[in-house]
Amino acid sequence: MKYLNTKEKLRLKTLLDKNKLHTIKNSKGKIIKYTYDDFDFVLWPYEEQTKIKHKVLREYLFVWATKLGSVNYINYYDGFSGGGAYYNSEENDINYGSPIIAKEQFIRAKRGNKSSFYFNDKNKSNVENLKKAFVKSGISTSNITYTIGEFENNITSFIEQLKDNPKPTFFMIDPFGINAHFSTIKKIMEIPKTEVLFNFMYNFARRFTNNKNSETNLTDLFGTEEWLNYKNLSGDAKENTLRDLYKQQLKSCAKYVYQYRMCFPNDKRTYYYLFHASNNRDGCSIMKDSFAKINYGEVEFLGPNQPNPAQLAIWDLTTDKIETLKVQIWNEFKGQTILYKDIVDRYIDSTTYLERHIKQAVLLLKDEYAEFIHVNSKTRTIDYDDTICFFDKPNLKPVQMSLFS
Ligand SMILES: C[S@@+](CC[C@H](N)C(=O)[O-])C[C@H]1O[C@@H](n2cnc3c(N)ncnc32)[C@H](O)[C@@H]1O
Repeated sequence: MKYLNTKEKLRLKTLLDKNKLHTIKNSKGKIIKYTYDDFDFVLWPYEEQTKIKHKVLREYLFVWATKLGSVNYINYYDGFSGGGAYYNSEENDINYGSPIIAKEQFIRAKRGNKSSFYFNDKNKSNVENLKKAFVKSGISTSNITYTIGEFENNITSFIEQLKDNPKPTFFMIDPFGINAHFSTIKKIMEIPKTEVLFNFMYNFARRFTNNKNSETNLTDLFGTEEWLNYKNLSGDAKENTLRDLYKQQLKSCAKYVYQYRMCFPNDKRTYYYLFHASNNRDGCSIMKDSFAKINYGEVEFLGPNQPNPAQLAIWDLTTDKIETLKVQIWNEFKGQTILYKDIVDRYIDSTTYLERHIKQAVLLLKDEYAEFIHVNSKTRTIDYDDTICFFDKPNLKPVQMSLFS
């Protein structure tokens, strides 16, 4: 069988015939699935925030597979893999789910033969659906292992094997609810060269904080009982405290943790946070770039508050951001000597700034506010191991008196 490359597939892209498309609704009349006369699998409705999640995953996995796969055999593990196919009503077309996206991007990165894929879902019909969606996609199905069952049970043996023989592995943990334990994510992050993209279903967790029957699930989710102290908070205070608690937990086992806020498409409230945990600075930085690239330069999806691309003056926003960051860095580090990489580490996962903003802000400090000591004399901008000596006071240039004035 000849597999199609991405260009060939795009050429063959055909729109669906709406007469062949049928809906399956739940008792409240909401569309939960589509069937299509020519397909032997179902399609899920494609929500706006899922589109964004998939675009980010596509961008990031291509870079990840290219970089880590250049010298290593690599793995992708999808613990809540889903049914593999969505109906995109805006474009009247099929879009594929995270497992097919991952396989496609590894092939695009020319790592298709040097990688393994593990797809798990507790629902047998979703796994069967995914297999059929794969066939329809035309993407190679080699090196795939499917498992059916509870994520928490099925991942155990995979973690044990990986621990004995570590390989760079990207874990996609994308549940509908609160059924992934922090202790499992911690075990994953303790293995070298692992990364996790975890869907922290905040809206779901929030609703159950005052339900006695969910206490054990929430304690497993957070990996601590500390969340109980905050269950009676409300609004933003509750959201920010619980999000920060989860981040603090992840920071105990991953050096870089950044969370992407995803609102409901038609509501300004938070639906979920996508937490990215990595022990690699580039991983954190590239994931942020990937998100910003597909989201008008921003690192959160604001639903109805999304910026209007027609009105965006990206240049002005970026200039303001960099000026603000420059002042922040100066106020924090004046009088100190510090490596440039420590400045990047300080801001990369605790602010919305991208790494290029940090670099631009630091470069603006040169001469007037700080002196740079380069490890490599040929460096024209700044390297991670360069030292920055911040002055105690700005070194304001004297007004130049012209000899000829
Ligand atoms: C949000 S969907 C996954 C979507 C998929 N990652 C994608 O991007 O296309 C969540 C999936 O998790 C599965 N699931 C729910 N609870 C699970 C559990 N405890 N263990 C494994 N799978 C579970 C559901 O059947 C569903 O297919």
